[in-house]
Amino acid sequence: MSEPLWERTLKVTTAEQTHALAAALGEVLEAGDLLVLTGELGAGKTTFTQGLGEGLGVRAGIISPTFVLVRIHPNLPDGPRPGGPDLVHVDAYRLDSAAEIDDIDLENTMDTAVTVVEWGRDRVEHLSDSRLEVELHRAVGGGGTAAANRTDEVLDFDTDDDDEPRTIVLRGIGPRWADAPRLLDAAGQPDTAGQPDTANEGHI
Ligand SMILES: Nc1ncnc2c1ncn2[C@@H]1O[C@H](COP(=O)(O)OP(=O)(O)OP(=O)(O)O)[C@@H](O)[C@H]1O
Ligand SMILES: [Mg+2]
Repeated sequence: MSEPLWERTLKVTTAEQTHALAAALGEVLEAGDLLVLTGELGAGKTTFTQGLGEGLGVRAGIISPTFVLVRIHPNLPDGPRPGGPDLVHVDAYRLDSAAEIDDIDLENTMDTAVTVVEWGRDRVEHLSDSRLEVELHRAVGGGGTAAANRTDEVLDFDTDDDDEPRTIVLRGIGPRWADAPRLLDAAGQPDTAGQPDTANEGHI
């Protein structure tokens, strides 16, 4: 199944809000979940993953994996979800194809971990019949409108630590996410951005 069952757009204004949103999601994710993160350089994919890690209660130290393609962050017995899933954090930026993804054997860890893949689009969809797509956009207003911001992005490269607005689009694909709007509400993330719920509307 590849068509989204639902899509939800959230807006945040600070890195801390991105982190908090992901942490809330991390509290309700389960072993076997696959998250595919998309967004330009510096959009906040790693910031989001750090939040997930906090919510999941896994070992800290989540960074952009740059040279290491995969990092496993074990669940902490004294964290908020003892016995819960580990976090497998992948950066697929340098991987050109699904075949290269297969070389790193994510199947081995998927059953016991939440697998999060930065730059995963078109590379990891075959790993599971379900996935949660997370798109982070610097342009407020949603996907596909970032072109006008690209020049700013380059000029702003050194000021990456400044808080900026982001639009975060969540899209559920496959049976695991059929009930996910409810799951997101359970995570305390209803339509905080004032956006209409686009559940069941399909993709853009
Ligand atoms: N609203 C926001 N959400 C997330 N990050 C933000 C926000 N505003 C500012 N930032 C900053 O933007 C940067 C995002 O960097 P991060 O490493 O998370 O991006 P990335 O998408 O993983 O980049 P890369 O493609 O290089 O892996 C951080 O320095 C963060 O503090
Ligand atoms: Mg990153």
